[in-house]
Amino acid sequence: MTIMNKKWTLAARPEGLPKAADFEWRTEELKPLEEGEIRVRNVYLSLDPANRVWMVRDTYVPMVGLGETMRGGGIGIVEESRNSKFAAGDTVQGLICWQTYYTGPGKGFSKVPPVGIPLAAHYGLFGHIGYTAYFGLLDIGAPKEGETLVVSAAAGAVGSLAGQIGKIKGCRVVGIAGSDEKCQWITRDLGFDAAINYKTEDLRVALKRHCPNGVDIYFENVGAATLEAVLNRMNNFGRIPACGMVSTYNRTEPEPAPNNLFHIITKRLKMQGFIVIDYAARFEEARAELLRWHQEGRLQYRLDINQGLESAPSAFRKLFDGSNTGKLLVQISPET
Ligand SMILES: NC(=O)c1ccc[n+]([C@@H]2O[C@H](COP(=O)([O-])OP(=O)(O)OC[C@H]3O[C@@H](n4cnc5c(N)ncnc54)[C@H](OP(=O)(O)O)[C@@H]3O)[C@@H](O)[C@H]2O)c1
Repeated sequence: MTIMNKKWTLAARPEGLPKAADFEWRTEELKPLEEGEIRVRNVYLSLDPANRVWMVRDTYVPMVGLGETMRGGGIGIVEESRNSKFAAGDTVQGLICWQTYYTGPGKGFSKVPPVGIPLAAHYGLFGHIGYTAYFGLLDIGAPKEGETLVVSAAAGAVGSLAGQIGKIKGCRVVGIAGSDEKCQWITRDLGFDAAINYKTEDLRVALKRHCPNGVDIYFENVGAATLEAVLNRMNNFGRIPACGMVSTYNRTEPEPAPNNLFHIITKRLKMQGFIVIDYAARFEEARAELLRWHQEGRLQYRLDINQGLESAPSAFRKLFDGSNTGKLLVQISPET
């Protein structure tokens, strides 16, 4: 039987916010599997700010080539296998890319364990989202009871988990987000102590009001002017897990801020970048703890699921105009 694969390829390197013309929709006939390959029917595609970076420059992974299928992680069901590590019917997670079927060796793919949560929720709680929040905050942020934690992009996938983990560890948690609805969600439903709408409030003034004892940990998701404002409030020996700088990803000109990095020296701050895959050997530890907190009702997630692979380019823009809340996904095919 002929299987057709539909996919989005990278047509142009975006300048500024990615637009429809940066992607091309293609349909191709799939060839029979070769020895060592698997065929996966893709179910959920994860859309991530890092995908924007992969479109334009080499980082910890090479950039996506023009004409290549857009790279992205996700979950799918193995339909056929000529690889002894996977069997038909396995649910797997890996770099499935922006297409209806993944065909290849399944390098870096893992089986999704049945832990009694909905399939899409694996991306709300675990995967590169949960593990990023967990290791960034606990390993680099090293929170202590009574300390003040500030989280930016706090109503997003990683930020909403990082703030809740901060509460579990006994911190005063202040979130920065881009709408009143997001601020209400993180304070009323997720238990953050305070939230700042950076689009309507003066961030410096609001940080002073909500962090009267200064800031001990800043979970950095945004960069630039946000980083500059929080640096001014950091306490001596504060820690900054540098997780991402989403406000810079669409810039066409060099970033002007922050202009106060000297605080890192005088306040003896520790600012450390990390990529979640650095912690691959400890993912099981994080999974067990995140699941336990979720089952105890102390860790919630929200999913923003967009229907159909066709929607991927337009859904992707939500990450940059702030119209997603929680983990942004595209559902490509049914779960069963
Ligand atoms: N180091 C790692 O291994 C790793 C892994 C995963 C993610 N990350 C990073 O973690 C951060 C969050 O990723 P995520 O997947 O959880 O995305 P997300 O927070 O769910 O979505 C991105 C959010 O960023 C905010 N944002 C976008 N442009 C902004 C701007 N110019 N200024 C301020 N806020 C802006 C928007 O929320 P508002 O409405 O609040 O503006 C948007 O909803 C990103 O920086 C990402 O690169 C790092």
